Amino acid sequence: MNTKISQVVVVIGAGSIGQAIARRVSAGKHVLLADLRIEAADAAATVFADAGFEISTASVDVSSRASVKALAQKAAALGQVTGLIHAAGVSPSQAPIEAILKVDLFGTAVVLEEFGAVIGDGGAGVVIASQSGHRLPALTPEEDRALATTPADDLLALPMLAPGAVKDTLHAYQLSKRGNALRVMAEAVAWAKRGARLNTISPGIVMTPLARDELTGPRGEGYRNMLARSPAGRAATPDEIGLLGAYLMGPDGAFITGSDFLIDGGVTASYFFGELAPA
Ligand SMILES: NC(=O)c1ccc[n+]([C@@H]2O[C@H](COP(=O)([O-])OP(=O)(O)OC[C@H]3O[C@@H](n4cnc5c(N)ncnc54)[C@H](O)[C@@H]3O)[C@@H](O)[C@H]2O)c1
Repeated sequence: MNTKISQVVVVIGAGSIGQAIARRVSAGKHVLLADLRIEAADAAATVFADAGFEISTASVDVSSRASVKALAQKAAALGQVTGLIHAAGVSPSQAPIEAILKVDLFGTAVVLEEFGAVIGDGGAGVVIASQSGHRLPALTPEEDRALATTPADDLLALPMLAPGAVKDTLHAYQLSKRGNALRVMAEAVAWAKRGARLNTISPGIVMTPLARDELTGPRGEGYRNMLARSPAGRAATPDEIGLLGAYLMGPDGAFITGSDFLIDGGVTASYFFGELAPA
């Protein structure tokens, strides 16, 4: 009988980016695929199981602490949690301001708190932020600290996030994604005490259902123009993000923690210093 304790990789947001990273870091491990839409997790599970991965699924709403806590407990009951891929989120064209802040900002903070309590020695996590966080002008040092360290349950009461202070859904998304990278820096210090590492990936446009909603939504023309005039001249594929995720989570990334990796085909560089600079 095999009595070895399973290593568990938890994927929150069983979408294209989450799956692409999970495929590369989960051989020989148990993969717990979780999503708000259980049908998304189940569909991904079929593909993973057919490819030989050991899989279970769960529904989770990252905007609910009780739901995230239950997921963390479920993961810990499956074995030693050594991987976290947080790739759940909503984009500016998919949700109103309040929902973006609740899912993308508060939800990520809750995920890091709850999984910071179960992540095992030698573990690693990645959080998917966005290039959008890099286009937001600098915040004050006090605002940076507030986004990084305010307990998750108090985050949405910050004056900088009050109605009126957040202009529109894009601004809410940018603040959330900047907040993710800051939060990961602060949490990486706590995760290190458990022997685990934590980093952020900030992708540019990656071809996924979420990106399709942006490219065909109210800001579609701007996004299509951004791609056409960017240094790379195209969107990323989910697998290109998967490769970076695997590097950060694997042994080659052992010296990397608390960092944010921009992978955007040069869009941000061009926004500040090239053709994509705002007029
Ligand atoms: N695709 C891009 O161009 C792009 C660019 C930059 C950043 N991102 C970020 O990457 C992450 C993953 O997006 P994707 O492009 O793979 O999209 P996707 O739509 O393929 O996957 C996102 C998943 O998150 C799930 N989700 C939404 N709300 C949730 C909630 N409250 N609780 C749990 N799950 C929830 C959705 O059901 C979906 O399956 C998001 O955070 C997104 O902001 C995407």
